[in-house]
Amino acid sequence: MAKLLVKNIGTLQTPVGSFSHRGAQQGENIKLHDAAVLIEDGIIKAITEEGKLPCDEAEVDTILDAEGKLVTPGLVEGHTHLVFGGYRQNEIPLKLKGAGYLDILRAGGGIMDTVRKTREADFQELYDKTEGFLDEMMCLGVTTCEAKSGYGLNLETEVKMLEVLKKLNEDHPMDIVSTFMPAHAVEAQWKGKEMDYINLCCEEMMPYVKEHELAEFIDIFTEDSVFNVEQSKVYLEKAREFGFGLKIHADEIEAIGGSVLAGEMKAISAEHLIVIDDAGMEALAKGGTTAMCLPATSFYLGATFAPVRRMIDEYGIPVAIASDFNPGSCPSLNLQFVMNLGYLKYRMTPEEILTAVTINPACGIGRGDKVGTLEVGKQGDLVIWDAPNMEMLCYRFGSNMALQTVKKGELV
Ligand code: NIG
Ligand code: FE
Repeated sequence: MAKLLVKNIGTLQTPVGSFSHRGAQQGENIKLHDAAVLIEDGIIKAITEEGKLPCDEAEVDTILDAEGKLVTPGLVEGHTHLVFGGYRQNEIPLKLKGAGYLDILRAGGGIMDTVRKTREADFQELYDKTEGFLDEMMCLGVTTCEAKSGYGLNLETEVKMLEVLKKLNEDHPMDIVSTFMPAHAVEAQWKGKEMDYINLCCEEMMPYVKEHELAEFIDIFTEDSVFNVEQSKVYLEKAREFGFGLKIHADEIEAIGGSVLAGEMKAISAEHLIVIDDAGMEALAKGGTTAMCLPATSFYLGATFAPVRRMIDEYGIPVAIASDFNPGSCPSLNLQFVMNLGYLKYRMTPEEILTAVTINPACGIGRGDKVGTLEVGKQGDLVIWDAPNMEMLCYRFGSNMALQTVKKGELV
């Protein structure tokens, strides 16, 4: 029985419970002072405060002294496009000349450029590159992450991406939750025949991915010049029949009704939501759908920021914030930077932000019962921060403030 004791924690801050937190509850964290955590075989066995220790120090294998710093649950990254060939630094000059994200995509670049490079890359190349990203994320405090396919747009390459994720989930300490996203872009041959491509996704790709247990969730880019609401609905209904959990890239650039659809279909999450309107927010609230907001994408696209204060205060929608790490609209996997943006641009409180990078994304990827809070019985995933409190963590940006990440009771 491997036992790890983390002692001398200045403040242990965490949301409580295994459910998504909405409205005023989004800002409710508990704060324990002079605390300690005992992790046995990867699971939290006891938490104490006010200088008490949960066990005799001689009983444990490893003692970690937090030296009076802040400890939180390991961060949960709820939205990434982690596996991809190449990069897209060549797009910056185009952007600076005024080309929009969808202009580049319509001209056959953008996502399609990454599709070509991902088809060319072999399994090992993608595995090694993704492994490097996972190492970097763990150093930055992330212990669980979601990752999407979507740069294959054919069965062979979509499966290659999902196989990379499956193997890394076995080999790497990171817990990875996979999302199948074959409806990420419309390849030239399917322009004007989008419904035929949707049918191909439903009839050929979904059954294979389901049968081989390659993904839990399905996602679609519901957007102007990509897939419309009607096509998205057919795709998501079929996906639901196969037993996939539903996610939608909605209202990123044009509000064409993606959030309304997400709410109506009771999707587990709707993602982006930069231009969401009142009808969209009402639908998400009714559907119990988590809003997965991605402020670093707004930053990188030079777009506006999702109306997160209204989501929390007026609609009581559970809000998660995530990186959207991908080569085109957010080439950063630093969730700490996302937290800074949550503070300054979304005007969330530090407590709301902690909920938005722990229990809410955990629920948004179906892991709320295992991770996302520091409570007895949950996984021993935590971070010791080079900060005394969340205010400091959300204020500093550009540095890695994680001193030590602990995954299932192991130092990583
Ligand atoms: O979430 N918007 C669609 N998909 C990604 C971007 C993918 C890319 O540009 O490579 C996003 O922003
Ligand atoms: Fe995305």
